[in-house]
Amino acid sequence: MSHRKPLNLLIGVGVGPGDPELLTLQALRTLREADLIVVPVRDDRDEIGYAEAVVRAHLFPGEDGATATTTATPIVRAPFALTDRTGVSARRTHAWQAAAALVLDAFENGASTVAFATIGDPNIYSTFSYLAATVRQARTDVQIQTVPGITAMQALASSSGTVLCEGSEPLVLFPALGGADDIDGVLQHPALTGATVVAYKGGRHWPQLRETLTAHGRLESAVVGSHVGRPDQDLRLASAVTGEIPYLSTVIAPSTRTARGGKLV
Ligand SMILES: C[S@@+](CC[C@H](N)C(=O)[O-])C[C@H]1O[C@@H](n2cnc3c(N)ncnc32)[C@H](O)[C@@H]1O
Repeated sequence: MSHRKPLNLLIGVGVGPGDPELLTLQALRTLREADLIVVPVRDDRDEIGYAEAVVRAHLFPGEDGATATTTATPIVRAPFALTDRTGVSARRTHAWQAAAALVLDAFENGASTVAFATIGDPNIYSTFSYLAATVRQARTDVQIQTVPGITAMQALASSSGTVLCEGSEPLVLFPALGGADDIDGVLQHPALTGATVVAYKGGRHWPQLRETLTAHGRLESAVVGSHVGRPDQDLRLASAVTGEIPYLSTVIAPSTRTARGGKLV
């Protein structure tokens, strides 16, 4: 059986929430074997983004800026207008096209595999899906694969000692971009009674989310994690957190449990 790499393969690699130890072995092998690694940055090519920091911890261990090993896979930064909050804006479209052009150029110049490193999992709210769609639009012969990553939700559950779901409990992960109305809608939804609710992207709406959790009697058991897995990680009981919190924050409001195995059916 041949083990030749397929040509023109773009792989979205989940690198976990930020702790280099939460990178899977498959992700590490994929990053090492790729011809090029593309990493997203907010707007500025001079900055090291969250995904790149994890990649560098493995491919350039002990790096002090000047002593990077020369054998590691090259890394290229692609600005993704990550601070835009305006739908498919011109800036976003331009960023997706520019990143896709970078990938396609790499294939034209002989690369057979390009890895795109993304925080958490590449199939959950990741820039990778927009990049993959843009690349496929331009060239249908490019193969797309993903390597799963540990999500911020899982990392926060683990580091805060929060069980995400048991027995018949639903688990809802939602982007709290609309603030209080969003979480209120989720908590009131008849099909989601007793669900554990996880909010992503709700940092600037935290004061309203907090009020809504309080109104539903869910604040006391909820936890908030900002920059989970990074050196500046901040884990707190939700009741202790007031004011705005960073964009990279996750909220878990666990289902109410009163007895061991009480949700088993
Ligand atoms: C664009 S989504 C990326 C999700 C990611 N692909 C995943 O699988 O977890 C960004 C949101 O993920 C959450 N997030 C990602 N990394 C995080 C971290 N290290 N700590 C806390 N929340 C994080 C935050 O809610 C943030 O607003």
